[in-house]
Amino acid sequence: MGAPVAVTDSQGKARRDQLVELYRELQDCRKCPLAEGRTTVVFGTGNADADLMFVGEAPGFHEDQQGKPFVGRAGKLLDQLLGEIDLTRSDCFIANTLKCRPPDNRDPLPAEIEACRPHLERQIELIEPRVICTLGNFATKLLTGSPQGITRVRGVPQAHELGGRPVFLYPIFHPAAALRTTAMLDQLRADFQALPRLLADVLPSFGPADDVPEPEPERELVGAGAEVDQLGLF
Ligand code: URA
Repeated sequence: MGAPVAVTDSQGKARRDQLVELYRELQDCRKCPLAEGRTTVVFGTGNADADLMFVGEAPGFHEDQQGKPFVGRAGKLLDQLLGEIDLTRSDCFIANTLKCRPPDNRDPLPAEIEACRPHLERQIELIEPRVICTLGNFATKLLTGSPQGITRVRGVPQAHELGGRPVFLYPIFHPAAALRTTAMLDQLRADFQALPRLLADVLPSFGPADDVPEPEPERELVGAGAEVDQLGLF
């Protein structure tokens, strides 16, 4: 696969409709006990046609209250680092490994990650990102399928097949960790600086070469309906 393939209006609309449907389905999710303590299911927000996706760990207090990912200090840092490479949230889709807040922000449990995994996989299948930045250990281990921790694998893109398509997984530090130490912040910033090049990079092909669609004219972003405001920009 070569350069990014533009999404047509009808492809984009179908994708947004399916994401909205998934969003509605997840509102009643009871697949794990986190459903009992949540205020909202934090589905994720952003551009349904994004080439770039971020996957964090789990909603915290403010995310649970507002129904949106990364609305606290870690989110501000994410916005700042995106800005430094001339991107905004409207250029990407931001989701989490878990869609519901663990009590007292404790680490996700293996059973919760497994229960929530199909939701994230479906999001990836629908959005079809070229690059997925896994933020921290939980998202990295889940999507790489390897027990290797973030400190060992950060900053090195890995070609994988996810959602039936090739994708670069790009493990980087979680912004909350980077808020705690300057050395981590420096590394996270350096890893962000490498993102534009990675986004333009050629993905390996895992399937027959003639699967590659013809490039078509770029579509415009349209706004989400008020009822799915928590999905943010579509
Ligand atoms: N940390 C995360 O991993 N996700 C959020 O949405 C907020 C903080």
